[in-house]
Amino acid sequence: MHEFRDYYGHRVRLAFADHPFSTSPGHVWVICRYGGRWLLTDHPRRGLEFPGGKVESGETAEEAAAREVMEETGGVIRLLEYIGQYEVEPDIVKNIYFADIAALIERESYEETNGPVLLEALPDDIRADHRFSYIMKDDVLSLSLAELKQRGLID
Ligand code: GTP
Repeated sequence: MHEFRDYYGHRVRLAFADHPFSTSPGHVWVICRYGGRWLLTDHPRRGLEFPGGKVESGETAEEAAAREVMEETGGVIRLLEYIGQYEVEPDIVKNIYFADIAALIERESYEETNGPVLLEALPDDIRADHRFSYIMKDDVLSLSLAELKQRGLID
C-alpha cells in the first residue's frame, strides 16, 4: 500500500492489488499506448491526461474504461489490463488500467475534451509542466509506470 498527497494536498492511498478499496469503483483511469507512443486526451481545463472518468449506472468499470477511451481519444482497445486502484480523500475510488490501443478512429466530438494527443515520452519534470493535468502530477503516475514495467507491459 502506498500513501501520499496529491497535487492539491489530498491524501491518496494506492495499491496494486485486487480492488483494495471498492469492488464497485466510481471512476476509471486508463494508461494508453498506441504504436509505441502514449495516448492522452487534452482536457480544456485540466490539460493533458490519460483518459478516464466516471462509471455510469449499469456499466462495469471495464466498460467505462473502453467508453471513456473511445469518447476522449477515439481509441479502440486491443487489450485492457487491470493494474490497481487508488482512493483520493474523501470518497473517490478509481481503477487503474493499462490499454494497448489497436486503432484511432476520428470522431466529430471528443465529449468534453479536445481529443487525442500522442506523445513519444512523458517529461521527467511533469509536475512542473503546465501542459499537464493535476491528475498526472502525483505518485499515481510514477508508481503505475513502474508497475507496468515490472509486469512487462511497457519497456
Ligand atoms: P466532473 O466535472 O463531472 O468530472 O466532476 P468533478 O469535478 O466533481 O470531478 P470528480 O467527481 O471526478 O472529482 C472530484 C474531486 O476528486 C476532484 O476535484 C479531485 O479533488 C478529486 N479527484 C478526482 N479524480 C482524481 C484523480 O485522478 N487524482 C486526484 N489526485 N484527485 C482526483
